[in-house]
Amino acid sequence: MDGTPDSYILGRSARETRRLILQNQIYGPLTRRFFRAAGIGRGMKVLDIGSGAGDVALLLADLVGPSGRVVGVDMNPDIIETARSRAEAAGWNNIEFVTGDVRELDLDTDFDAVVGRWILMYLPDAVSMLRYLATRLRTGGLVAFHENDFSYPPTVFPPSELSMQIQRWTVPPLGTPGPELQMGSKLFRTYVEAGLPAPELSVEAPVGGGPDWAGYEYIAETLRSLLPALGRLTGLDPRAVDIDTLAQRLRDDVVGRDAIQVLPIMFGAWSRKTDAR
Ligand SMILES: C[S@@+](CC[C@H](N)C(=O)[O-])C[C@H]1O[C@@H](n2cnc3c(N)ncnc32)[C@H](O)[C@@H]1O
Repeated sequence: MDGTPDSYILGRSARETRRLILQNQIYGPLTRRFFRAAGIGRGMKVLDIGSGAGDVALLLADLVGPSGRVVGVDMNPDIIETARSRAEAAGWNNIEFVTGDVRELDLDTDFDAVVGRWILMYLPDAVSMLRYLATRLRTGGLVAFHENDFSYPPTVFPPSELSMQIQRWTVPPLGTPGPELQMGSKLFRTYVEAGLPAPELSVEAPVGGGPDWAGYEYIAETLRSLLPALGRLTGLDPRAVDIDTLAQRLRDDVVGRDAIQVLPIMFGAWSRKTDAR
């Protein structure tokens, strides 16, 4: 992402906002476990970058409690409005959402933690972003990021022609311009290059099966959001995908064979700022 809103590969439609919410239903429990392991807790003041529809900020509001504070930043004003109204509807008054590019805002420098999910992969220079974010932390403050890695694409066990086709559609060849698809496995190196202590790491993937598993819908909606970008980048023809029937075809394929679906895995990394930089 080069900083202009229209360059965001997944688009900015209302449907994409709903996809982010569905995504959080699947990945939220993993992110909660990750933040707890990293040490996010009561009373902390946390900066969430690339807040999107606010799911991470809402989760953090619960973890830090009424004595803590969450500041969520996103450069897309529409999605920030969604995040604000969701926080209001949930009754949280310990969250503030700010619109803008995180590096251009005048943010406090005494945060206890800076965090983000699915954000470093979209940045042209994740190392310099982490270096900058460390300046927003008190000494001893936590840097915690949760990112996918498409070296492990969505997989069905046992695989089928349809599931392998979906892998080919959703994961463009390495080197294709766009997000860093291996951000998860590059977190360690990114932290170290940013001058942070070597981070602790975690890895987890959502997995499910049966007719009610949300993964079929999630994969189909993700592909729907990616179609325009994939058309440009890889020449994918939407007619070949038949997107409106994809979730049901995938469900039928998995359920009909008592198979399971593993969604893209999440790497977590956390580390603490050790000096006053
Ligand atoms: C994939 S979404 C992630 C949403 C959210 N973190 C979640 O886990 O649901 C990435 C978000 O980062 C925002 N973003 C990207 N670069 C940014 C920047 N430099 N400053 C602020 N927001 C940014 C985008 O507008 C987008 O809403």
